[in-house]
Amino acid sequence: MFEQFKDRKHTIYHGDALEILIKEIGSESIDLIFIDPPYNIGKQFSNFYDKWESDKDYTKWAYQWLDECIRVLKPNGTLYVMASTQTMPYFDIYLREKMVILSRIIWHYDSSGVQATKYFGSLYEPILHCVKDKYNYIFNSEDIKVEAKTGAQRKLIDYRNPIPTQYNTEKVPGNVWYFPRVRYRMKEYENHPSQKPESLVERIILASSNEESIVLDPFAGTFTVAAMAKKLGRSSISIESQQEYLRIGLRRVLGWQEYQGEKLVSVPKNNTIRNKIEQKLDIRQGNLFNGDSTA
Ligand SMILES: C[S@@+](CC[C@H](N)C(=O)[O-])C[C@H]1O[C@@H](n2cnc3c(N)ncnc32)[C@H](O)[C@@H]1O
Repeated sequence: MFEQFKDRKHTIYHGDALEILIKEIGSESIDLIFIDPPYNIGKQFSNFYDKWESDKDYTKWAYQWLDECIRVLKPNGTLYVMASTQTMPYFDIYLREKMVILSRIIWHYDSSGVQATKYFGSLYEPILHCVKDKYNYIFNSEDIKVEAKTGAQRKLIDYRNPIPTQYNTEKVPGNVWYFPRVRYRMKEYENHPSQKPESLVERIILASSNEESIVLDPFAGTFTVAAMAKKLGRSSISIESQQEYLRIGLRRVLGWQEYQGEKLVSVPKNNTIRNKIEQKLDIRQGNLFNGDSTA
């Protein structure tokens, strides 16, 4: 059982990702897939508790939707998948048999609030960047360039070329990406324990899709992928199982103001209670060690 909500360019499904992928998404129909699944680390996502009995049970589930995502991806499509540091080795070994892994990206972030003191706190999450055909895929390098912190900053001349020139001031980012985590004080913040930054999602969409592309997010959470796809003129398909988060998507992606008689509003910001909320958020995001809760 699932529900569908849509406008001309954006579709939202409320239901189970695997079921909807199988029943609703056509083979080789999607240009870009961004997968940010439950990590099997014991987070509470509204009414869903993110913990499986064993790694074997978790990966058995995950390989099913990974296979479906590969099926729906166009021959020149791109798939990004995130995972916990503990689980990524399983995904990597599984996917390298089925796709070409172009990059193993590290999303490195700041930590604030409660710090680990008895082990090395986790300050990154891994992302795999995969394509079906290593000779035919979208990569808009010009659209994602960042400032080069090399000789260009000191206006040095590169004498290695036959004609000496100034160092480039811009470059394509490497595979370690620094983006701050989404904090309560940030404008983009939504009430969700695992919201990914707009800046990270924007880089992925700009690099690996064009305006006519369809972007699929099977575990939408705060619908940041669809919201950024919309901002960048792409079409989107999102799936989310929890009604609490569906409400965010209806507001952010389809522009609804009301759902089932309740107003859809973004999180009100109250600066006097922000520190307490941020501390709670740190705990929810796994900054406190509780045995297995690393990202
Ligand atoms: C890691 S979060 C995604 C966060 C999202 N990328 C963002 O930036 O907000 C995973 C999401 O998957 C949802 N989810 C869990 N099981 C699901 C399922 N079987 N089908 C669809 N969504 C599911 C959870 O409710 C949660 O919102």
